Amino acid sequence: MTNHTLTSSTARYTAYDPWAWLYNQSLGPQYCRDKLPFVEKLLLSKLKPAARILDLCCGTGHLTQHLATQGYQMVGLDGSEQMLHYARHNAPEAELITADARNFELPAPVDAVFSVSASLNHILSLAELSQVFDHVYAALATDGVFLFDLRLQGNYGNHPLTGGEVKADYAWAVGEGYDADSAMAFFTITIFHRADQVWQRSDLTYQAKAYACNDVQIALAQAGFRSVQIYDRAGDLMLPADQQMVYFLAHK
Ligand SMILES: C[S@@+](CC[C@H](N)C(=O)[O-])C[C@H]1O[C@@H](n2cnc3c(N)ncnc32)[C@H](O)[C@@H]1O
Repeated sequence: MTNHTLTSSTARYTAYDPWAWLYNQSLGPQYCRDKLPFVEKLLLSKLKPAARILDLCCGTGHLTQHLATQGYQMVGLDGSEQMLHYARHNAPEAELITADARNFELPAPVDAVFSVSASLNHILSLAELSQVFDHVYAALATDGVFLFDLRLQGNYGNHPLTGGEVKADYAWAVGEGYDADSAMAFFTITIFHRADQVWQRSDLTYQAKAYACNDVQIALAQAGFRSVQIYDRAGDLMLPADQQMVYFLAHK
């Protein structure tokens, strides 16, 4: 395991707080449905029943809860206290921890860690992603497994995030931009919310980092992970490419 100097930017990530109420009833349930087949196929198939699993950047805990109902001992960790507020309601049996993915410790080791829905693209530099990998490695039991998805360079720009809904009391839309020179993306959530018959508008902007596949593989190896496998959206083993959203499966 390598040592990385913690920077001032490793203050706890709280940017999802103002979005949490909406995420809880829109993307949280949707991403749970979308990601479950990959987590089942790539990770759960390799674990013993009742394995202890960390959902890193668990958000509103929809996926955490789904696995808890399957008998897994679930731990959820997120930087946003508001996202965890909903996770406590959605996943009442899970052990939930407010902490930053770049700097955390667990009270007891886990058999597996997963992080999905491009959560780790919110880690904005390779040095900080390496900090995440170091802490995941330390949190895992011997022979533990780590699964995460990432949007790589080439995915942003070519496949911008879009979506939205119109409901009786709220409406929202997401748009995304990408700067290929810095490999930085930003997406904006515009929300209209009616309270006491008055419509209010808010605009939230989030940054995300597009990583190169090879950089991620090197950082995993430097953290001590071995036999890293890369899967594409279809869940099939693929050659490293910078054009996709991919899943990395790494072993301690
Ligand atoms: C796109 S949401 C995904 C949530 C959940 N994994 C899902 O699939 O619905 C990203 C989550 O990552 C969390 N997050 C981002 N950066 C973080 C960090 N450095 N430490 C802890 N949580 C972080 C956010 O608070 C948010 O809940």
